[in-house]
Amino acid sequence: MLDLKKYGIEMWPEEKIVAFRKALLDWYDKNKRDLPWRRSKDPYAIWVSEIMLQQTRVDTVIPYYERFLHHLPTIKDLAQAEEEVILKLWEGLGYYSRVRNMQKAAQQMMADYGGRFPQAHAEIASLKGIGPYTAGAIASIAFDLPEPAVDGNVMRVLSRLFEVDYDIGLPANRKIFQALMEELIDPQRPGDFNQALMDLGSDIESPVNPRPEDSPVKDFSAAYLNGTMDKYPIKAPKKKPLPVAYQAFIIRNQHNQFLLEKNTDQGLLAGFWSFPLLEKGEEQDQQVSLFELAEAPVQPDLRQSFSDSYGLNVDWQEQEFTRVQHIFSHRKWQIELTEGLVKNDTVFSQRQTMWVAVEDFHRFPFAKPQQKMWESYQKKAANK
Ligand code: ADE
Repeated sequence: MLDLKKYGIEMWPEEKIVAFRKALLDWYDKNKRDLPWRRSKDPYAIWVSEIMLQQTRVDTVIPYYERFLHHLPTIKDLAQAEEEVILKLWEGLGYYSRVRNMQKAAQQMMADYGGRFPQAHAEIASLKGIGPYTAGAIASIAFDLPEPAVDGNVMRVLSRLFEVDYDIGLPANRKIFQALMEELIDPQRPGDFNQALMDLGSDIESPVNPRPEDSPVKDFSAAYLNGTMDKYPIKAPKKKPLPVAYQAFIIRNQHNQFLLEKNTDQGLLAGFWSFPLLEKGEEQDQQVSLFELAEAPVQPDLRQSFSDSYGLNVDWQEQEFTRVQHIFSHRKWQIELTEGLVKNDTVFSQRQTMWVAVEDFHRFPFAKPQQKMWESYQKKAANK
């Protein structure tokens, strides 16, 4: 066990812990959000919800969650699904390695656990893509095991309760919050206890506009009582994502079909389809408005490289697009669109390309940058 005193934290006496659990759970019983995954005890469904919720807001997740379970209701369905099906179901949620790892974990469960979810915490934690947070959430919510589920929301709440002087953004400090939770968690209702802290952290104790007066546990909160709410949690600002410039090629043939390409790299958007994209390189982070960004000279122009590497003879159209931007966690893509027409549409390239009519776009998994490019293209077409 971690010695919390070493971190300047004094754990409460048992009566206070018991009173805290009661205050939190009473509040949760009256105020908990009615969320679809809270109506299920199926570990598979809970797993799907927890993975989706890792980087994505509840409101966004709900329709994805319902659709995913409708199409892939069991571990076996997920294990056997085609890659394009799972990407399509995750399309727009981002962080696609999450769903790829889920499929690997489902295959692991087919191979090692007869297609059932393992019930022991250590086994759950050994599945692909399931880290300590998710293992704790599934173990506590689906199997009533007294396992903490420590995410950013929970760390923020705990930081204020105990005035924790350690940065919640540093992975090395997670063990402090894990140890606090091991003492605090209600052994009778661990899943509800974890989710009550999540609800508290995402609303009353949110990072923006918290309402500390409304907190059901304000009388337990050292930061509240000492007037130090502004100081906690300790969190260093995140690094800015690195800007990278791309040129995208919106190429149409004589049948009004567009050239799409499957991304066969193992990178960020592996398996997705997109208008062809060529990287121009890392850009200096320009502190300019979107208007200036659109006006900024674009260099180098990769039209010739495109024609060469796809073996196409392109009739280039005038540039009338604004640039499209998409921010991933570590990268900021700035995409310049280029439009062209071809008469002879035979592609001479090893790349996986296809000419696709707009009516058939829905069959292809498109990630967010692709969706934004298409919106930008349509806007331009509408203004013509
Ligand atoms: N965020 C992550 N998991 C959650 C859950 N089970 N309920 C509400 N918000 C969450």
